[in-house]
Parts: sequence; C-alpha cells; structure tokens
Amino acid sequence: MQLRFVDTDATTHETPLLAVPVSKGADGSKGVLAALDASLGGAVVRVLDSGEMRGAEAEDVVLYGSSGPRRIVLLGVGDVAKLDAEKVRSFAARAVRVAERLRVTSVAVVLDGLDGVEDGTAAQAAAEGLALAAWRFTELKKKDDDDDGPVTVTGGDVLGTGNADALARGTLAGAAIARGSNLTRTLQARPGNVATPTHLAEEARRIAGSVGLEVTIFDEDRMRKEGMDALLSVSRGSAEEARLIILEHNGGSEGDPALILVGKGLTFDAGGISLKPPAGMEDMKFDMSGGAAVMGAMQAIAELGLAINVVGIVPSSENLPSGTATKPGDVIGSLAGKTIEVINTDAEGRLILADALAWGARMKPAAMVDCATLTGSVIIALGHHAAAVMGNDDELVRELIDAGTASGERCWQLPLWDEYKKQLESDTADLKNVGGRPGGSITAGCFLSEFVGDTTWAHLDIAGTAFGESKLPYNRGKGALGHPTRLLVEWVRSRTG
Ligand code: BES
Ligand code: MN
Ligand code: ZN
Repeated sequence: MQLRFVDTDATTHETPLLAVPVSKGADGSKGVLAALDASLGGAVVRVLDSGEMRGAEAEDVVLYGSSGPRRIVLLGVGDVAKLDAEKVRSFAARAVRVAERLRVTSVAVVLDGLDGVEDGTAAQAAAEGLALAAWRFTELKKKDDDDDGPVTVTGGDVLGTGNADALARGTLAGAAIARGSNLTRTLQARPGNVATPTHLAEEARRIAGSVGLEVTIFDEDRMRKEGMDALLSVSRGSAEEARLIILEHNGGSEGDPALILVGKGLTFDAGGISLKPPAGMEDMKFDMSGGAAVMGAMQAIAELGLAINVVGIVPSSENLPSGTATKPGDVIGSLAGKTIEVINTDAEGRLILADALAWGARMKPAAMVDCATLTGSVIIALGHHAAAVMGNDDELVRELIDAGTASGERCWQLPLWDEYKKQLESDTADLKNVGGRPGGSITAGCFLSEFVGDTTWAHLDIAGTAFGESKLPYNRGKGALGHPTRLLVEWVRSRTG
C-alpha cells in the first residue's frame, strides 16, 4: 500500500473515500465533522440527530459528496476517554474494510477528533492499521482476477490538522513497521514446501540487500564445525538442510553491545518420531513465525534507521520422522556444551533455540530476546490475546510488557522459579527436553534459560498469538498475524532513548 501524510483540508481532499472518526456524544458542531456538515448541506448533523450513529465502535454510515471526497464514511470510535493507539489502528483498518466493501482502491483517514492520542502516535497507528488491513496472501492463487474478485486497497492517505511534522514522521514510521509486519505474515503464510530453511535464508539475503543489513548464513557443515549439535539433532530426520540465519543492523557506534533478537524458524513441525496427530497439523507450517517476525522486525529496524546495533538470529529446520531422525531417549550435545536427553522429539523448538541462544550469548549482547511458537500450553495459560514473556531480568521483562502495550501486541509475565527447573532433571544427561504437563510453557522457558549464560535475556512464547483466528479489523479473520513484529520493533526503538 502507498501511504502518505497529506497536509490538507479534508473537505476538499480528492479521494474516493474519506473516513472520519465519530466519538460518543459528538454532535457535528465542531472540527472536521462541522466542516463536512457544511459542505454536505447538513447531512452529518442529520445522521447524528437521527440516533442511527451514536459513535459506538461497530457503527458506520456512508454519505456521498459532490466535490472533494466522493464518499464520506463516519466511523464510530467509542468513548473519547478510551481512545488510544490501538483504537486508531482499528479505526484506520475499518476504513480499509469499508473501501473493500464499496470496491474503491484508495482511502483517506482523518485523525482530527481523536483527542488524547498524540499526533505522531496517532499517525503511526493509522498507517499501521491501513497497511496491515490491506495485506492479503495471494501469491499461490493462480485464478485470474475477474470483476467479482476481492478489491485490493492500494492507496492510504493520512490527514490531520495537528503538528504536520509529527504526523508526517508518524506516517512514515507506521508504514515501515507495517511493511515489516506484512513481510512476517507473507513468510508465515507460505506453506512448508515453499518456505523451507533454504528459502528463509534466501529471503534473508534478499531483505539484507534491499534495506542494507549484513547477512551471514550457516549451512549444516558450518553448524557441525561450530558444534551446534542440538540444532542438527532436529534436522536429522529431514531431507531439507537446516540453516542458521544472522542479520545485522549496525546503526549504533562500532563496538557498542548489540540487542539480539532470536526467532524460532521451524518451517514444518510434524513432531518428529513423537509424531503429532493429523488434525490441524497443517498449521505447523506456522512454526517458523518467530523467525519470520525477527526477519520482519530487522527489515523495519533498518528502514527506520534506528541508531543502535541489532542482530537477528533465526535457527531454521524442519522436524520430521524418518529412519535418520532423533529418537526419544537419545542424548545429544549442544553448542553450550550441555548434554540433553530428548524425551519427546516434538519439543524441538527449545533444541534449535538452545544453540541459537548460545551463539548469541557469545556476542556479549546488551540484551537478548527470543520469540517462538514454543508450547501449546501457553494457549491454555493466556489464550490468544497475549504472548507469555519470561526471563532472567525483571527490568527487561517490564520493557517488553510496555512495548507490547504500546504496539498493541501484548505480553504477560510467567515466572521462571527454581522449583520449575527441577522438572527438567534427567537420569542420563545434564537435562531433559521436557518437564511434564504442569507449567509446560514455564519449563520450556526454564530449558532455554540454561543456554544463555549470564546474558540479560527474555523469551516470548507466541504459540497463541502469532497465527490463528482474530477478530481485529486489521487482521483478515484467520491465518498469519505477524505478531510480535511490532512489539520487537517498539522494544528496540524504546532502547534508542
Ligand atoms: N510447535 C509446537 C508448539 C505449538 C503448539 C505451536 C500449538 C503452535 C500451536 C512445539 O514444537 C511443540 O510441539 N510443543 C509441544 C511440547 C511438548 C512435547 C512438551 C507441545 O506444546 O505440545
Ligand atoms: Mn513440536
Ligand atoms: Zn514446534
């Protein structure tokens, strides 16, 4: 989507569709609503007086103009006191949904009347809402687009009479962040036979070339040379070779400790010898969502030109059963030197992350954050509205919770107390890879904590939030959601001071 801030009067702006927010109790007597009411011969006040539009969040009413905007949609946004960035994101996204319904390909959103949300924040959220809502995964549909096919909204204008500089900068930032999030979604949506570890590595090279990141790819020979036995143990059962992708953004001073983002890039998780049941197994193409989010976030961080050093690390593998696959009971090594008894080959994410985290820890980063579709049990703990965050530093955990709130991709803390770590004790190795059903997300986090040394580290379990059904207007019902790309970018930004 082409996004831009336009410093102009909404009543004369040439657009097929202008979206205007209406909060509860608005009577059309001031601001843009009053100006539009005058140019539409009193139509806005007539709508509001009718009681059919009270400013509640589900409401929309379309009016037709004769000059300037061809159509005006009044969109209810609820209580003024409850307005925040997420409400603005949803408002802009609903404008795109109305455009799709009316079959017009561009839309302008007015940010006046969204009191309490700062101009830059509002413009960023609006740009995000527009571009996220317009995203669609079409590359594998070969049918020609005919007249009855869905309309793709390609133009998004942000309008506002506030601080033009803040609005313009916010729009650009939101556009870059949404491009990153939509890249995450596209990688997520690709099926396992397309998005293999090799494919993700090629995509990393392409992204690096287009936005200016350094890229390094490890093949299996290099992994063997380094001693990444845990990552290799997962890849053993598969004909596709594993890859370790490293993307570097050198926006800070040379030698300044970097922030490291690590993402699980498991391109298809059949469970290995501990095979998963068939129902819903197709969703396990999404098991690379964390890796995709790190790639999307790194693209956005580069585009935003953030003045900080950031490294993205994506261990990528398939997890399949075969005659060469790792078996339950096998004991494997790891880059960190610890031996692991593999009780369940379906607990593979923590194995590939163990080596990626150990590699990151060697760089002595300022902080390291990983994200992974790691456990089904996080869905039992928190449902689909928040990721779980856990780590060895409460300040870092707090930063991530705050970044989640600010970005609208929320996370909530689970503890990593020593009592849980006992569940990972093994008779034959240093530790085992599963800790039983109680506290399954926590024991997975405890496992990861064993591989970060003394690095300040936190882990996001995104199994409930990265993909699936969503009623949010900037998501398309079900599938790839892009979470937690926005959260990661917001956290890195918050560290630039
Ligand atoms: N990729 C899965 C976790 C998952 C489940 C992601 C549902 C998205 C939706 C992970 O590799 C896995 O299989 N975890 C097991 C761990 C168990 C064997 C300890 C799980 O959650 O059942
Ligand atoms: Mn698994
Ligand atoms: Zn998995």
